[in-house]
Amino acid sequence: METLSTVDAVRARVEQWRAAGLRVAFVPTMGNLHAGHMSLLAAARYRGDRVVASIFVNPLQFGPSEDYSGYPRTLDEDQLLLQEARCDLLFAPSVADMYPHGGDQRTLIVVRGLSDILDGRFRPGHFDGVATVVAKLFGIVAPDVAVFGEKDYQQLLVVRHMTLDLALPVEIVGAPTVRAPDGLALSSRNRYLSAAERARAPVIHHSLSQAVRAIYGGSSEHAELEREGSLMLERAGMSVDYFAIRNAADLSAASAESSDLVVLTAVRLGRARLIDNLRTHRP
Ligand code: PAF
Repeated sequence: METLSTVDAVRARVEQWRAAGLRVAFVPTMGNLHAGHMSLLAAARYRGDRVVASIFVNPLQFGPSEDYSGYPRTLDEDQLLLQEARCDLLFAPSVADMYPHGGDQRTLIVVRGLSDILDGRFRPGHFDGVATVVAKLFGIVAPDVAVFGEKDYQQLLVVRHMTLDLALPVEIVGAPTVRAPDGLALSSRNRYLSAAERARAPVIHHSLSQAVRAIYGGSSEHAELEREGSLMLERAGMSVDYFAIRNAADLSAASAESSDLVVLTAVRLGRARLIDNLRTHRP
């Protein structure tokens, strides 16, 4: 695997591949890779002749009181994992490579509406930072296909909308969430949990599963199910940012007639803020 850090070097390598008629698959990450990322790389390997990953902890998507400086940076271990996953090229730029004007970033991509709800309410500007960096990475890597985890469901929808609205020639693929045997979704932020908090964390998945079972059983009492979900999480000592049942297509409010649904939650547990979701269909 080759590691490149400059925009020009990545463009030159990918242009060679494209000239040879090869299909390029891309997995953008912030590093600190785990089995969840490995599943994204496997999906990319399946869809492309060449696989590119990026590792960039994007300052633009972190709020002033968030964990940007403390976010785990583990480049050496990540490179080994990427090699094992048969990644061909790692793009690991510096902040100066990605933001040449420093803090004076005047160009922003804003996916209105979708970016202000749910996680966007608690992390103002977060999805603008995500959409902007992903559009920029697409401009640099010029992939045919890019793979994102369904664990970050709202992010996946923001990226899909942005790609469609800007007519970017990139196919967006969502890959299923990878979970620990006890149900906890894998996340780099799980490492902030103490042993006691980690033992309680599977309640997140239980609360989502409880709502999904009720919906599948025919319930359309969404407000009641949201209250029960929040209560279960609070009883386990978590502070709940939201527990919401929404239309899966656009995260709008779900009605009794809605059939394709997603249940999403975000909680704070100790130092960690964890998000998770489950899709479901009303039969
Ligand atoms: O999901 C992530 O790791 C990040 O939000 C992404 C998509 C790499 C953009 O920085």
